Amino acid sequence: MIKAKGVSLRYPDGTLALKGIDLEIDTGELVYITGPSGSGKTSLLKLLMGIEYPTSGSLKVMGQSIAKGQEGNIRRLRKRIGPVFQEFRLIQGRTALENVMMGMRFLGIPCRQAKENAKSALTRLGLEHKALSMVENLSWGEAQRVAIARAVARKPRLIMADEPTGNLDHDNALIILDLLTSFRDTNTTVIITTHATHLIERQENATFIRMNGGNISVERRGKAYEEYLV
Ligand SMILES: Nc1ncnc2c1ncn2[C@@H]1O[C@H](COP(=O)(O)OP(=O)(O)OP(=O)(O)O)[C@@H](O)[C@H]1O
Ligand SMILES: [Mg+2]
Repeated sequence: MIKAKGVSLRYPDGTLALKGIDLEIDTGELVYITGPSGSGKTSLLKLLMGIEYPTSGSLKVMGQSIAKGQEGNIRRLRKRIGPVFQEFRLIQGRTALENVMMGMRFLGIPCRQAKENAKSALTRLGLEHKALSMVENLSWGEAQRVAIARAVARKPRLIMADEPTGNLDHDNALIILDLLTSFRDTNTTVIITTHATHLIERQENATFIRMNGGNISVERRGKAYEEYLV
């Protein structure tokens, strides 16, 4: 699913956000990325989403190389990825249902099918009663679930959520993590960054990527234990 070899990311201002990362993630893994602020979690997700490209090293996501000159292929790859951004990126002035449907427009999914998928995603997230509400009238937690519904409605192979527990109380953070992890199956990989280490520390059957200053260490629980220290 994901293969990174010696991947570094240097931003134009010179900041070295990722320092030669080696990482392999299989289809169907549940991956938590933790680490202090500024350690490179969002930068890593941006690379995996094809929003940023490695400055050096090689990175493949679902067999597609993330590199300059691959823009068209990366655009196609991104259709198989369901991103949940930290700041949601919902379209104001539109309903929850419209926001979830928009995520499917690019895929050429017919309107009726998109509507059906959107409704069932909203229902799964407990939001069927808010389908016709304008997103600006939703609570924080509801807006977050709309953002998740938009990401999952098109049944992506790879779901990535950046800090989905931010700004949520303990109970709601747990609900969101449970929901996100419930989409993991043999075909779907789920990657979540979070500061809420206390909520995931007892989790079994998951992969933990701990980031520090652009380096990573990996621990797999429930399968063979492996560690990469770069
Ligand atoms: N567009 C950018 N240009 C320059 N530097 C950047 C850019 N985006 C991030 N950085 C820097 O890269 C480093 C890693 O940032 P990143 O956003 O990946 O951290 P993070 O682990 O997601 O932090 P947080 O927990 O606060 O979200 C930081 O030093 C940050 O200042
Ligand atoms: Mg971040």
